[in-house]
Amino acid sequence: MIISVIGTGHVGLVTGAGFSEMGHTVICIDQNQDKITSIIDGSIPIYEPSLDEIVSRNKSSGRLHFTTDLAEGICLSDVIFIAVDTPQLSHGQSDLSQLESVTHQVAKASNNKKTIVIKSTVPVSTCRRIDRILRKYGNGTVFNVVSNPEFLREGKAVYDFMNPDRIVLGTRSDDKDAKRTMMKIYEPFEKDHVEIIYTTLETSELIKYSANAFLATKVAFINEMANLCDAVGANITELARGIGLDNRIGSSFLKPGPGYGGSCFPKDTLSLTVQAQEANCPVRIIESVINSNSSHIRRLGRRVSDFCAECWNIDCKSSLLGKKIAVLGLSFKANTDDIRSAASTVIIPFLIKQGAKVMGFDPVLSATEKFTDQFQDTIPTFEAKTDLDTVLWGADVVLVLTEWEEIAKIDWLKKRSILNSPIVVDFRNLFNPDLMRKYGYHYASLGRP
Ligand SMILES: NC(=O)c1ccc[n+]([C@@H]2O[C@H](COP(=O)([O-])OP(=O)(O)OC[C@H]3O[C@@H](n4cnc5c(N)ncnc54)[C@H](O)[C@@H]3O)[C@@H](O)[C@H]2O)c1
Repeated sequence: MIISVIGTGHVGLVTGAGFSEMGHTVICIDQNQDKITSIIDGSIPIYEPSLDEIVSRNKSSGRLHFTTDLAEGICLSDVIFIAVDTPQLSHGQSDLSQLESVTHQVAKASNNKKTIVIKSTVPVSTCRRIDRILRKYGNGTVFNVVSNPEFLREGKAVYDFMNPDRIVLGTRSDDKDAKRTMMKIYEPFEKDHVEIIYTTLETSELIKYSANAFLATKVAFINEMANLCDAVGANITELARGIGLDNRIGSSFLKPGPGYGGSCFPKDTLSLTVQAQEANCPVRIIESVINSNSSHIRRLGRRVSDFCAECWNIDCKSSLLGKKIAVLGLSFKANTDDIRSAASTVIIPFLIKQGAKVMGFDPVLSATEKFTDQFQDTIPTFEAKTDLDTVLWGADVVLVLTEWEEIAKIDWLKKRSILNSPIVVDFRNLFNPDLMRKYGYHYASLGRP
């Protein structure tokens, strides 16, 4: 059986590489010629730990191929995974234009029976729509449409793909063929006792949104609790441990931080609320989560200026004027170069608006480049570097936004001499407040006295 994956981005490339690692023959297809050329030449276009190793291993073994020729890739394969992006439109709906365009191309190019698997995150009923398009434009070709949402986390994508908590497969209830094909593909996981959930197309589509919405809720919840801890003098670390040890709650996703970001949680939570409104069944909890998260991120910029005003005993309205702020971490979380909806994209423009001179550090060059490209018109004064000391040198304030290992292991005692002023605002709670105080720092974090 030959598998093709259309869309060689964060999800498609990991999916293609992962299936080839499991022993399947895979053709990865993308319309972006530069991307495909660079992968063929041995350079991976995204930062994702160990992805380069499995791509290069499976390319050499002849199981993993790359092309921009969609028609040829489709003709050669039995199963076609579609992993193109489904970004957010202005009112929160999902933009399905890439998916629809690919579907028309698949319908036109297919020469015999195909199983079409939707990996992209799509609103409920999209797979049925894809099924209808394929039947209408497929010149009599038989298509089996499957929904197989992806749950991998950027930064741990290869591990997550190879070690899934579960696999969700939605099919039409009368489609036994699709189920058999998918069982064959995922057989190695089933043998490893990974639970496979067979369900309808609609339930499968909704599982993906519900999972992300639930996780986003946990993040927003713990951030609100951290703010409350600050207000009443309680400790969020101990609170999170105190609730997380309850098996019904669980300890993951209970770390306060600068709000959720990235390419998935913001768009998927919003899309879920839109789908629910359209179904006349609003999801009020998720609407509140979205509001909570965006006001949390917005409040953090103000917390930096308030804290500095307190340290320097000056007016908070002008406390950042002319000050150099070193922002540590631009990506939305560690181990990825993805800056989409990262806290840095909101907080840095705010700080610059307050008159601060901001320099950013991220250990991954592509993250610094993406950030400067995105903001070159609106904040041309902003500079980003991959060298930590250049960014820290002469800083009046250090602001920690991402939990990169390079940031978490900073020796603050040693760095003290290159800073202009010993102020560290840590929105990832990476450092010990007592130790920071002992080293002579004014140190603020989230929900810790
Ligand atoms: N990024 C994640 O962590 C993640 C996790 C789970 C699910 N998802 C979902 O997976 C989907 C893909 O996300 P992504 O982050 O991989 O997107 P991406 O933007 O990184 O990759 C999409 C790729 O599709 C290609 N493409 C677009 N139109 C094409 C066409 N007509 N023919 C061939 N290639 C085409 C683009 O060139 C791009 O390389 C989205 O629906 C997303 O919500 C993403």
